Amino acid sequence: MYLGITKSNTMKRIVLLTGAGMSAESGISTFRDNNGLWENHRIEEVASPEAWVQNPEMVLDFYNQRRKQLLEVEPNAGHLALVRLEKKFDVQIITQNVDDLHERAGSSKVLHLHGELKKVRSTIDPTLVYELDHWEIKLGDKCEKGSQLRPHIVWFGEAVPMIDKATELAKTADIFMVIGTSMVVYPAAGLIHYVERETPKFYVDPKAFPVHGIANMEVIRQKAGKALPALVDRLLKEG
Ligand code: OAD
Repeated sequence: MYLGITKSNTMKRIVLLTGAGMSAESGISTFRDNNGLWENHRIEEVASPEAWVQNPEMVLDFYNQRRKQLLEVEPNAGHLALVRLEKKFDVQIITQNVDDLHERAGSSKVLHLHGELKKVRSTIDPTLVYELDHWEIKLGDKCEKGSQLRPHIVWFGEAVPMIDKATELAKTADIFMVIGTSMVVYPAAGLIHYVERETPKFYVDPKAFPVHGIANMEVIRQKAGKALPALVDRLLKEG
C-alpha cells in the first residue's frame, strides 16, 4: 500500500524503481529478455484496450495465467534485502511489477505504477476495485454495477494514474535506486530525471548502463538477488 509523500525529519528517504528483473530470480519471466513474455505474446493482443475489445477471453486468460503463477513463487533474496533497509531509512518502492512479492517480503510502502495482478476492477466505474482471493476471472464475472470485471492493470496506451505520486517521490529522494528494469517504458523510465543531481543513485541490473544525462550514478551489473544483500549492508553501514 502507498502511504504518503511527506518526508520524515529523522530518516533519509530511499526511493526505488523496480522492474521485472527484481522478480526474475523468483521465477517470474521478464518481458524483453530472451524467452521473455513479449517474445511469446504480442503486446497488442493481450495488454491493450484494443485487445480487450477484440478478444477479452484471451486477455483474461493471459492475466489468469500470470495470477496462477503468483501462487507458485516466493520473494527472493533481493526483495528480502530491501526490507532490511527499513531499519534505518524511509523506503519508498515504486514498482512496475504487477506481482505482490515486495509486499509478501515485508516492504511497507509499495506504489504499483502498472497495476496489481491480485486486483480487478469494473469496466464502467474505475473506482470499483476488488481484491481477488482466487486466481481466475472469467467472462461473465461482474462488478456490483453489473459490468464485466477486467484486470487492474495499466495497458499500453492507457494513462498511468500513479505517475504524479511517483514523480513527487523521485523529487524527494535522498538516495535513488533502479533495479531490474530495461528503462525503455515511459513514463516510468523518465522518473530518474526528476531526482536531484546530487542525489546518489544506483542501477542494479546485469544489463545496467549509465543513463544519459544522469550524474552520481553507480552502475552495478549483477543480478538483484546477489547485488542487493551486499548493497543494503553497505547502505546500512554508511547511513
Ligand atoms: P524488461 O523485461 O523490459 O526488463 C527486465 C530487466 O531486468 C532487463 O534489463 C534485464 O537485464 C533485467 N534482469 C533480468 N534478470 C535480472 C536479475 N536477476 N536481477 C536484476 N535484473 C535482472 O522489464 P521492465 O523494465 O520491468 O508493462 O518492463 C517495463 C514494463 O514493460 C513492464 O512493467 C510491463 C512491460 O511491458 C506493462 O505491462 C504495462
